[in-house]
Amino acid sequence: MRARLLVFAAVTLIAGLVLAIAVKWGAVKEGSKDGAPAAGPGATYIGGQACASCHEVEHSRWMGSHHDLAMQVADEGTVLGEFKNTTFAHGGVTSTFYRKDENFYVRTDGPDGELHDYQITYTFGAEPLQQYVIEVPGGRYQALGIAWDSRPKQEGGQRWFHLYPEERIPHDDPLHWTGRNQNWNYMCAACHSTNLEKNYDLEHDTYETTWSDIDVSCESCHGPGSEHVKWAKSKDRDGDSKDEMRDGLLVDLKPQDTNVWKLDPQKGTGDAGDALGVSCGTRDVRPLPLAAAEH
Ligand code: HEC
Ligand code: HEC
Ligand code: HEC
Repeated sequence: MRARLLVFAAVTLIAGLVLAIAVKWGAVKEGSKDGAPAAGPGATYIGGQACASCHEVEHSRWMGSHHDLAMQVADEGTVLGEFKNTTFAHGGVTSTFYRKDENFYVRTDGPDGELHDYQITYTFGAEPLQQYVIEVPGGRYQALGIAWDSRPKQEGGQRWFHLYPEERIPHDDPLHWTGRNQNWNYMCAACHSTNLEKNYDLEHDTYETTWSDIDVSCESCHGPGSEHVKWAKSKDRDGDSKDEMRDGLLVDLKPQDTNVWKLDPQKGTGDAGDALGVSCGTRDVRPLPLAAAEH
């Protein structure tokens, strides 16, 4: 609980900092609200894969970063937790993690308090912990309260644990994994995916949530890229002036004057002076006020 609160406090702080600095630098172009990249005339999200062909360095730096690993389809290559009929007991419920064919399952208490079998749909994060997201009816995705501690064994990791270790979370509690507070569409997705649209249907109480990248991809920070690519591909482009180079991009993340981005090879984080650390492949921070501010 404490740890989660701390993470959230840190997240809020970072988000605030990034936004404050972006505004100070005059980085956010006119027409955007609250620092969110305005979907300016014609500019649409095209997906990070489209950037890779021209920006191989940035793309390879981003691959495997926390931004890349923010959310992934659960499969052999992405799931870190132990699913060998592994059991975990907490608050009077014994859950079992197991495989069936290619897929990953958990048998745990559902919204009725009884044990049911659920297929793991997505992984969430990678380090120091990995959470699991499960699809339930109504277009909803829920984040399981039992998570995998992915740290090495000598650091106390490689084990299942509950995010609320001291509490019993009954099935009708909003904090239960099937409850509102663990709903991915509403609580997590805006920060962990790119170009998220919740698409909540009030009348039917359902979601049809969409995104352009499942993870925190290029356009989370750089904004929608279609106009930029159009510019880059145009034959008569004049790429010499600084402004021209950014042509079509709605967000200018480049620090001005004295601020210079440095990449700390140890941590893998970028750093602009003392202010904040964000860069394409940063491992420790996920700023995302740009995407998050919209919601
Ligand atoms: C067809 C090639 C092409 C594609 C695709 C492309 N870019 Fe670029 N991009 C360029 C060129 C050319 C420049 C100018 C600087 C350079 O030569 O690297 C540039 C510059 C940039 C810059 C630096 C701007 C600055 O102010 O210095 C950013 C950031 C950027 N691109 C992001 C993206 C993102 C995000 C995507 C995907 C949505 C993308 N690019 C897709 C060709 C491309
Ligand atoms: C305000 C934005 C924001 C929201 C909302 C948010 N997160 Fe995060 N989350 C972050 C940031 C930033 C990090 C730190 C990333 C890092 O260190 O690489 C993070 C890290 C994590 C991690 C650690 C794994 C990793 O790779 O860093 C997990 C697991 C996680 N979040 C799950 C969730 C869940 C589940 C929800 C919804 C209940 C949620 N988050 C909501 C921004 C957010
Ligand atoms: C977490 C936010 C974030 C993500 C995600 C991100 N970037 Fe960046 N990127 C930045 C920041 C901040 C800068 C400014 C650093 C600078 O210009 O010195 C930058 C700079 C760049 C530059 C200019 C580099 C230069 O030397 O001028 C390019 C090109 C770029 N990013 C492409 C990409 C691509 C392609 C992706 C996806 C694979 C991506 N970025 C993902 C934040 C991000």
